[in-house]
Amino acid sequence: MGKIGLREWFGAGRAIASGDLIRSDGPGQYCAGFESRLAAMMGSKHALSVNSGTSALTAALAAAGVGPGDEVLVSAYTWIASAAAPVLVGAVPILVDVDESLTMDPGDLERKITPHTKAIIPVHMINRPCDMGRIMQIARRHDLLVIEDACQAIGVRYGDQYCGAIGDVGTFSFNQYKNMSAGEGGAIITSDTGLFARAWNYHDLGVDFRDQHLSYAGAVFVGSNMRSSEIQGAMLDVQLGKLPRRLKRMRRRYELLFEALTRAGLPVTPHHDPDNAVSLAVTFETEAEAIAYAGHRGVARLFDNSKHVYTNWDAILNKRTFHPRMDPWAWAARPIEYDLDMCAGTLDLLRRSCRVSLLDQYPLTVVRVLARALSGRGTR
Ligand SMILES: Cc1ncc(COP(=O)(O)O)c(C=O)c1O
Repeated sequence: MGKIGLREWFGAGRAIASGDLIRSDGPGQYCAGFESRLAAMMGSKHALSVNSGTSALTAALAAAGVGPGDEVLVSAYTWIASAAAPVLVGAVPILVDVDESLTMDPGDLERKITPHTKAIIPVHMINRPCDMGRIMQIARRHDLLVIEDACQAIGVRYGDQYCGAIGDVGTFSFNQYKNMSAGEGGAIITSDTGLFARAWNYHDLGVDFRDQHLSYAGAVFVGSNMRSSEIQGAMLDVQLGKLPRRLKRMRRRYELLFEALTRAGLPVTPHHDPDNAVSLAVTFETEAEAIAYAGHRGVARLFDNSKHVYTNWDAILNKRTFHPRMDPWAWAARPIEYDLDMCAGTLDLLRRSCRVSLLDQYPLTVVRVLARALSGRGTR
């Protein structure tokens, strides 16, 4: 969770004092400043701030032209928003198992591709990068778009790239629980100017007098209002400046805890980029061991995490939208059926796995003491 302090307070105060709380695109504006710094950090051509991660995913899909008749491959372990966003643009989510890394299984991904698949949403859950090397290879081979859900992983590295900056579009959330936060908020990054222009159109109702970006988008189309406010922009700009230090702090604690848990023989969950890892989890042989270990301070069993587990996505499993005729499943090119066991491998892993907090709210001396407690298997 990104810490909010005096600097964010001053940032928000400056935005309030300017009297201009709605975003505009003039020089020196807070959202625009944040976007240009975010794009520069990520090595992307463009960034767009929006009001949530859900909006970022929805606008990215709309920008990519995903819609009725399309299937979107989504990790089965994620916040419900990743699977709801395709529905919001009229497409259907197809769930893909996660593997031992707790991220999208490239093998299952390839098995679930059909002639109707248009896009993939790999999710970098709990700061764990997906196997983007293999996912990008599969996507290119099948000519599929990759919309990274990096909502939980801003600032996390995958080799020499940032999560979110590898696929065609990257999406972030800045709600209360993320690495960076303004309470709520989101962003899209991309280096595809046409896609960016369409996302811009979608996030601001296609109001073409507001900005020059729309000139790249072709004819304007109806969108929504997903604009971020200048207060959010000002706070997020401050948070972005703090992000590298925050991740360094997480990395230091990861190293310490990883060493302690490994030394104690705990089954640390594999990670796709151990040299940059800032997320620690353990996967036991049995569910009972995971339940016992979850009794430790800072440990949570992944299966107990409500709407992050697909079996709790009632509205999606039952294909319910706000209106009976707004039914993406009826528009799909083939019958789509969901059942509780469709990603049984994922459920098994979530039942046996626990997330271990990096305890970054504590100084290292306290973390060293807590690491000793975390090195025992049973509840302390
Ligand atoms: C993986 C993932 N995707 C998408 C979202 C949606 O973000 P928001 O809550 O900002 O709409 C979240 C938020 O919790 C998330 O964790």
